[in-house]
Amino acid sequence: MSKVAASILSADLANLAADSGCLLNAGADILHFDVMDGHFVPNISYGAPVLTCLKQALPDAYYEVHLMISEPARYAADFAKAGADLITFHYEAVPGRVGETIDTIRAVGCKVGISIKPGTPVEEIFDWLDKVDLVLVMSVEPGFGGQSFMPAAPERIAALRRECDRRALHTLLEVDGGINTVTGAQCAAAGVDWLVAGNFLFKAKDPEAEIRTLHGLSYQTM
Ligand code: DX5
Ligand code: ZN
Repeated sequence: MSKVAASILSADLANLAADSGCLLNAGADILHFDVMDGHFVPNISYGAPVLTCLKQALPDAYYEVHLMISEPARYAADFAKAGADLITFHYEAVPGRVGETIDTIRAVGCKVGISIKPGTPVEEIFDWLDKVDLVLVMSVEPGFGGQSFMPAAPERIAALRRECDRRALHTLLEVDGGINTVTGAQCAAAGVDWLVAGNFLFKAKDPEAEIRTLHGLSYQTM
């Protein structure tokens, strides 16, 4: 069974708690909170104060913070305090400082994810697979919701799955960008554990049915 992370970047931000609550009620397992700084990616979203408010409104949700920012370690404590359960940073944002970034996120009490952009060879993060809880494979260039899925993503996930299996690691694999029931199935077949979906779920007529379908996708049953 795949877990479903709802990317709330596609919500009506004036009604963020209500929109997020709807997807949790429809069965989403995780709220995926995209943070963009206008520097690491060419867009600006929202920061820790918004997470603080959302956490107050929906205290029982699991919050995954996807930091698409240049200095993730600098802001880790703010997001932990705001309610993050897991903080994912971008490998490309911290050349030479991957280890210390992981340590900083752990020190503030959160689980750690590492993310790679579509152009980064997956082998570059093999050394970190046993140091993190999750690997997030971007299937679009980070920065915007509603983009088309890049077809190279499943093979990249499969390569990570093979490496984790070879080393008997339980590191979770997640995919983000352009996920729907078709692209989600391709990623599940490649061995992904968590599917991030934004536009697809927020535009869905029947999000509960779509989430049920996404939940039913899994590596073992493909
Ligand atoms: C893109 C973000 C994604 C995005 C996913 O930079 O990291 O989480 O919001 O949205 P969809 O599912 O619409 O591609
Ligand atoms: Zn994201």
